Order: sequence, then structure tokens, then C-alpha cells
Amino acid sequence: MYAARRIATGFAQRRAFSVSAKQSSKVTVLGASGGIGQPLSLLLKLNPRVSELALYDVRGGPGVAADISHINTKSTVKGYDPTPSGLREALTGSEIILIPAGVPRKPGMTRDDLFNTNASIVRDLAKAAAEAAPEANLLIISNPVNSTVPIAAEVYKSVGVYNPKRMFGVTTLDVVRASRFISQLKGTDPASENITVVGGHSGATIVPLLSQSGYNLEGQQLDDYVYRVQFGGDEVVKAKDGAGSATLSMAMAGARFAESLLKATQGQKGVIEPTFVESPLYKDQGAIFFASNVELGPNGVEKIYPIGKITDYEQKLLDVAVKDLAGNIKKGVDFVKANP
Ligand code: NAD
Ligand code: LMR
Repeated sequence: MYAARRIATGFAQRRAFSVSAKQSSKVTVLGASGGIGQPLSLLLKLNPRVSELALYDVRGGPGVAADISHINTKSTVKGYDPTPSGLREALTGSEIILIPAGVPRKPGMTRDDLFNTNASIVRDLAKAAAEAAPEANLLIISNPVNSTVPIAAEVYKSVGVYNPKRMFGVTTLDVVRASRFISQLKGTDPASENITVVGGHSGATIVPLLSQSGYNLEGQQLDDYVYRVQFGGDEVVKAKDGAGSATLSMAMAGARFAESLLKATQGQKGVIEPTFVESPLYKDQGAIFFASNVELGPNGVEKIYPIGKITDYEQKLLDVAVKDLAGNIKKGVDFVKANP
């Protein structure tokens, strides 16, 4: 009886240890009061792997934090204003920094049309992150992702702390859409679909590799499917009619990617997500960054998987994507060189 209680207590202690080991991550959201920032912060508050949530925005961070902090999960929540020390405090000690700060599209705009406004926002936030939390994983949501990730990388290089294993463009929404849209066509459970999407995050740079999941759509049906995945963002921009772009589905996608990274950081093996990272795959064609399946680990990027077997149709999509991507990446790099 006594022995049994000791075993039970030991088990409870081990369990308590593993639970607390899972709750040791500070996560920071920059742009936390925005359309994405608020639901993203809410989902992070519900994640038991997060121990501390730091919510920063140029306006409204403390208000969102006060609201979210009443949710009865264990993590602490603090909001930060753009005071001289606010941003630095929000970042210090963080393991994961998500950046959804910046302006969204309106109908008729491309993501690249956001470059002029968002490039400097991301540059400045990346500089603060490079200085206050150089070892954190940086997850960039702000568009155009194909250019904002290279911008952040250049900034980290200029501060002397660039680690390509810890810098990610969040392309998870493309995977979520690709999985949802095929399930609508095939009548399958969308939660059990996981379509690999490679390339980048805008129009023709988004390449769903449907054949790798055993599907062989053909003709117009295949063209329509690919178009819907590539231009799913436009569907939302049009429907919101000037009030912005995807926020709720993006919050879900951002929270999913953060959760995958937290799992990997906290020791889980075999966590694989497509994400836009510095990559050797198409480097020789100027696409220094490229989204493909990436295994995540305690140090960030653990392994970048090759594209694998694809159809001739997918290869043609890929050729266009790589060419466009190279230009988008160069634009980001050149921006930081001209505007350090
Ligand atoms: P939003 O306008 O609703 O919110 C943006 C927030 O950023 C605002 O609260 C604003 O105050 C804040 N902000 C602006 N400058 C800032 C700065 N310097 N520091 C901190 N905060 C700052 O926009 P949204 O709908 O949340 O979209 C944000 C970005 O995410 C857009 O660029 C959008 O295109 C992009 N986005 C990316 C994806 C993706 O898949 N990667 C999906 C959807 C949207
Ligand atoms: C999306 O894919 O929904 C985002 O990149 C936002 C946009 O501008 O379409």
C-alpha cells in the first residue's frame, strides 16, 4: 500500500516535472492588437506550452493583454506600448517571436504593393529582436513574406547575429488552404489532409504538390484547384471588401506553426512543417529562401527535405515560382542595403 503510494507519488512528481517542462516558453507577438495579432494571441494563451506571453503593438498592446490575461490558463500575459524600453522588454528572454505587424491588402492590391510600408516596419522590429533576443526563433507573418524574411535576415546579419536555422516565413496558411480545398473536392476529412506546399507566399510562388498525397486531379479541375490555393488570399481580400485580409484563418495557421516549433523546442522528434527558410534547394537560381518541408528541432531548422518526386505539371509551376521568388528576395536584400 505504502509502496504503491510512493510509486504513485513518484509518477505524479515526474508528471508534474514533464508538465512544467512543457510550460517554459516565453512567446512574443509584435503587432498583437491587429486583425491577426488578437486571435493569434488568444490561441497562444490557450496553449499550455506557453508560459509567458508578451504582447506588443504601436497601439493597444496593454488593452489586448488585460483582456486575454483573464483567461483561466496558467501563462502570464503582459502588454507593451512603444515606449523606449517597451519593445525591448517584450522581446527579452523570448523563445519565439511572431511578427504580424504591418498593413494588410485591399482589393486590387498584390502583396508586393505592401512592400513600401511593411519593409521598414519589419526591418525596425527585426533590429529590435536581433538586439534583445538574438537566439529566439523569428516567425514572420507580415507581407510580402517573400521579401520580409530576406529583410529580417539582412538586418540580423548587420547586427552580427544571423542564424538561418531560427528564421522562418510563415507559409502554414497555404498548407491549411490546400488541405481544406482538396477535402472539399474529395469529401475527405480536412483535418487528416496534409498537402505539401512549396515555394513562397504569393500567387505563382505558391506551389501545392498534390501528387505527393496520392491525388491526380486533371485538366480544368487541377488548374482550378491550383489557382484557388495560389490565390486563396484574394478570395478573402475580396470578400472583406476593403476591411483587410485573412486574419482568423491566419491566426490559426500561425498558432499551429508556433505549436509545432514549441513541440520541437521542447524535445518532440519528427515535427515537420513546410516553411520559408534559407534553403540550399534553389540557391543557385537566386531563390536563397524557399519553403519546403522542414523538420524542426530544439535548434530551429533540423533538416530541409528535398522536393521529392513531382509531376511535369508541378515542375512547370515550380520553375515559374523559383524565378519570381528570386526577384522578391533580391528586392528585400536590396532594400536593407539601401536603407540600413
Ligand atoms: P492589421 O492592420 O489588422 O494589424 C496590423 C497591426 O500591426 C496593427 O495592430 C498595427 O497597429 C500593428 N503595427 C503596425 N506597425 C507596427 C510596428 N511598427 N510595431 C508593432 N506593431 C505595428 O493587419 P492584419 O490583418 O493583422 O495583417 C498583418 C500583416 O499580416 C499584413 O501584412 C498581412 O498582409 C499579413 N498576412 C500574412 C499572412 C501569411 O500567410 N503570412 C496571412 C494573412 C495576413
Ligand atoms: C493570405 O494569404 O491570406 C495573406 O497573405 C493575406 C493576403 O494579402 O492575401
